[in-house]
Amino acid sequence: MSEAPEATDAPKSAERAESTASAGTEPVFSVRNLWKVFGPKASKIPGDTSLTGLSATELRERTGCTAAVRDVSFDVEKREVFVVMGLSGSGKSTLVRCLTRLIEPTAGKVDFNGEDVVGMDKDALRDLRRHRASMVFQNFGLLPHRSVIDNVAYGLEIQGMGKAERRERAAEMVDKVGLQGLGERRPGQLSGGQQQRVGLARALAVDPQVLLFDEPFSALDPLIRRDMQEEVIRLHREEGRTMIFITHDLSEALRLGDRIALMRDGAIVQLGTPEEIVANPADDYVRDFVRDVPREQVISVRRAMRPLDASEAADATGGATLAPDTLVSEAIEAVARSGESCRVVENGRTIGIVDHASLLTVVAGINREGESDGGGDKAKEVAAV
Ligand SMILES: Nc1ncnc2c1ncn2[C@@H]1O[C@H](COP(=O)(O)OP(=O)(O)O)[C@@H](O)[C@H]1O
Ligand SMILES: [Mg+2]
Repeated sequence: MSEAPEATDAPKSAERAESTASAGTEPVFSVRNLWKVFGPKASKIPGDTSLTGLSATELRERTGCTAAVRDVSFDVEKREVFVVMGLSGSGKSTLVRCLTRLIEPTAGKVDFNGEDVVGMDKDALRDLRRHRASMVFQNFGLLPHRSVIDNVAYGLEIQGMGKAERRERAAEMVDKVGLQGLGERRPGQLSGGQQQRVGLARALAVDPQVLLFDEPFSALDPLIRRDMQEEVIRLHREEGRTMIFITHDLSEALRLGDRIALMRDGAIVQLGTPEEIVANPADDYVRDFVRDVPREQVISVRRAMRPLDASEAADATGGATLAPDTLVSEAIEAVARSGESCRVVENGRTIGIVDHASLLTVVAGINREGESDGGGDKAKEVAAV
């Protein structure tokens, strides 16, 4: 990783709860055993068990092929921000382009609202990309000689909407992304961050069910980038639109994602909430990836609390209380303020206790089985405060 993860503020637990609540409904995208292989006789690879088990390097040496996406399966639920994260070359762009067949999958199934994308004809695909699942690229491709409004209206123009109507809708979007009063400027008269907002407004203008972002902010300087991330979080909070967001940046993934699919060499090595991934890395690769994350800003007290002991009643009252979704960082403050342990209360019942020891255990990177992730120095720092 090139950048140390920053603090992950703006906890999204409320929205996360919402996105799990909608889990009973049909997923927006449903992907099963998806492969994309580049190279000679690529279509033979997914079905050949003598090849599918090979590492990326072995496969390349043996066949000359690159499996950019290998046997990937996942669902994207309505209203969630689904992040695909991985280092450069891990297959993120290929994967997201396969969803609307900007790249043809080699094998596997992609459904959109239950509709078979692989079986769609040209017209259905065009409709999918223009109206229902719009892609926001890193280079927004703004048209330099058009005003902001006309850039934002561009997608609507392609759809055949009349001029007055599309300009009116575009003006709304310009306001929505915080560019009030700038509608008549040319892109060249805007800052980099403002240009990004124009691109975002253009994607929003066509009102797609899903927005697909392929590393849209990675070329931005850190402050503008932070700003745009907050913009995405705000828009999501207001509209609840489903988003698939690709990034190679862990802190961005943790900040934006309801769930994160972590890719390596074309495969998903772990799929879970930020908290699940940080608290329970699936293997050494993931553990290494999340090593420097400030755990107390991702992990909630539900995971940190200890069970009630014999002297403690679930219907106890009094003292300080916390909701189970409270982040450990906030719980540390609460415990420090009250000077005693706090009850964790859900639906009026005490379901556990957090105290100094249980909270420090999280900060120190020790999970419940007592295994250390090497956060000992941090624990000492906190203990010294
Ligand atoms: N058109 C292509 N032909 C051959 N190999 C490709 C092609 N596109 C991507 N790849 C390879 O597939 C792998 C995944 O690429 P990509 O999806 O762009 O990764 P990411 O977006 O995570 O950086 C890389 O090894 C890349 O070199
Ligand atoms: Mg990419």
